[in-house]
Amino acid sequence: MIKSITGTKDILPQEIPLWKRLESIVHQMFRNFNYKEIRTPIFEETALFARGIGEDTDIVSKEMYTFIDRSKTSLTLKPEMTASVVRAFIEHSLDKHQPLNKFYYISPMFRQERPQAGRQRQFHQFGGEALGSSSPLLDAEIIEIAYCILSELGLKDLNVKINSLGVPESRQKYKSILKEYLFDFKNSLSEDSRRRFDTNILRIFDSKIESDQALLKNAPLLIDYLDNESKEHFEIVKNILSQSNIPFEIDPKLVRGLDYYTKTTFEILSAKVGSQSALCGGGRYDLLVKQLGGEPTPGVGFAAGMERILLACANENSIILPDEKVDLYIVNLDKVVLHYKVYKLASTFRHKNLIVDFDYLNRSVKAQMREANKLKARFVMFVGGDEYKSGKITLKNMETGEQKLIEIDNFSLIADIIKK
Ligand code: HAM
Repeated sequence: MIKSITGTKDILPQEIPLWKRLESIVHQMFRNFNYKEIRTPIFEETALFARGIGEDTDIVSKEMYTFIDRSKTSLTLKPEMTASVVRAFIEHSLDKHQPLNKFYYISPMFRQERPQAGRQRQFHQFGGEALGSSSPLLDAEIIEIAYCILSELGLKDLNVKINSLGVPESRQKYKSILKEYLFDFKNSLSEDSRRRFDTNILRIFDSKIESDQALLKNAPLLIDYLDNESKEHFEIVKNILSQSNIPFEIDPKLVRGLDYYTKTTFEILSAKVGSQSALCGGGRYDLLVKQLGGEPTPGVGFAAGMERILLACANENSIILPDEKVDLYIVNLDKVVLHYKVYKLASTFRHKNLIVDFDYLNRSVKAQMREANKLKARFVMFVGGDEYKSGKITLKNMETGEQKLIEIDNFSLIADIIKK
């Protein structure tokens, strides 16, 4: 039997209402902040991500789904959306229409990571990207949107962590200071961290290995080596967040796994989802547009993992959805003769925007009633027998038990009763 690919998941009908709830909050919140939806293709040229995210990041060096297509082009299933949004922004000269562009998206992403709860190989992100302003107001706005969506979902145990990575010049200076500090301990570092020592030293802070963290305990911190502009920018972001009542903590070791960040970075974590606790992450990337071939344009954004968020919601029992009900179930009392009539009746009420179902399996009246109850039908219409011969049907309100005999052709009256 052919099964789904490791690290991918089917989203079955019973889970869809939760996804729709999440999606509707995402659409609503971004609309409130006047972000416009953007959709980009599932795959892009590999070079976009290699250049955008950085060759030495985990994503590019070991997680991308890259393949050569029949015209010998190297393509990659998108592992994240920021590079694609920036590519679209440059390609369509969107800055020519307006100086500030605010985008949002909901899309599947692909990374070949080791699957576990909250970590998949095809997963879904929603996120937002604001391109065209270096104002710290936008850094705060991006964090506020992420926080508000999670709060709107009823999540309580949230931890907002923020940091500043400064600009490349101050970061470069700091990297040599960190290198000097770690040099004596290099042989005691884990294999992964030893590799990062040479390729991407900041990422050593991300190590989950205790002995690495012990060595980092007294390491110099980037936040103490920030340039003045980044420092001021960070102060303003913190002030706005405080004034907006968004609780946050400063985490000087928050480095993020993508190379494009400048100044503010942030993550929101949940204590309720085990080891994969980062529900979302993002930050400012003032150099990315230029790096990908556009006019220098500052940007800031975030992305959130939808599977992880729904896991957190399930663990906190934070989403309570009303039962899905059928408006009308038509019970056929006189099966063979009335089949086509029942089909037509169902169709009539479906065109009046009611959720209507009936029996397609030639079942007994008792079995049809069982089905109506299982579907939580609000009304049942009985069609057949002497009533039908005299042009009438019985409509039963399943909540009150009240029954009415109605002319079969009085569709508006029947629809009005059901819609009330
Ligand atoms: P990221 O931190 O790589 O950032 O991913 C954002 C979120 O996607 C994570 O916090 C996590 O919730 C979710 N996620 C990542 N990988 C997986 C996975 N394998 N399975 C399930 N969920 C996952 C970015 O992607 C940046 N593009 C964010 C950004 C936007 N920065 C600026 N603008």
